[in-house]
Amino acid sequence: MLESIPTKGRTLDHAAGVYDLVEPLILLGKEKTINENLIRLLTLRTTDKILDVGCGTGVLTGMISKKLDAGKAGLVTGIDAAAKMIEGARKKRKSTTCRFEVAAAENIPFEDNTFDSAISTLFFHHVDLNLKQKTLSEIWRVLKPGGRLVISDMHRPATFMGKLVSHVSRWLLFQPEIGENIRGVLPPLIEMAGFDPPMLHAMYFGYIAVFSSQKPVRS
Ligand SMILES: C[S@@+](CC[C@H](N)C(=O)[O-])C[C@H]1O[C@@H](n2cnc3c(N)ncnc32)[C@H](O)[C@@H]1O
Repeated sequence: MLESIPTKGRTLDHAAGVYDLVEPLILLGKEKTINENLIRLLTLRTTDKILDVGCGTGVLTGMISKKLDAGKAGLVTGIDAAAKMIEGARKKRKSTTCRFEVAAAENIPFEDNTFDSAISTLFFHHVDLNLKQKTLSEIWRVLKPGGRLVISDMHRPATFMGKLVSHVSRWLLFQPEIGENIRGVLPPLIEMAGFDPPMLHAMYFGYIAVFSSQKPVRS
């Protein structure tokens, strides 16, 4: 049996069994379209090594894996600190181009310069400022120079509905980590970790932003 990694992040072992039912509801049935748009931003090659940070049950990881070629060593790795998430992901989505490991985002168990791209969706509002910083430094470390970063997460809300949903969830869930995202901490933290200034590509539902950046080629 897999063991969860102790972390200050809000892990979702307790929700792993229902996550694939609840997530599409939260994203109002647009999960597939949003994921396809995110994958486009990775500008994948079939040979790429990709890291999915806080992968949950691996829905996005599984979609990425279908674009890769195992014969050419293409591989996507999903990590999550919650063992039950990883058990579910392995059961449903493991393949020759897709693997899942229990690991904390703030302590990524891979060598420097391993990955061509990294992606993370709806993870950063589960960790506090300190872990947000540590995670971004770790992603920077394991990316190759020139490696791409795509992050989709809660951000400064852009519409009335976006404000309502994000502020209500911050208070109903007693989650100050959401408050940090709402204040707009992600872009400066991405830059502070050494990445190029992030580009904002989209705002879904007025509160979920999509950013891309890259580790500078000379770093
Ligand atoms: C809302 S889910 C997002 C899952 C998936 N990326 C998605 O978009 O559906 C956040 C995930 O982050 C994981 N998590 C929380 N803290 C973590 C940490 N410190 N390291 C790794 N994963 C963590 C949780 O267990 C959970 O699976």
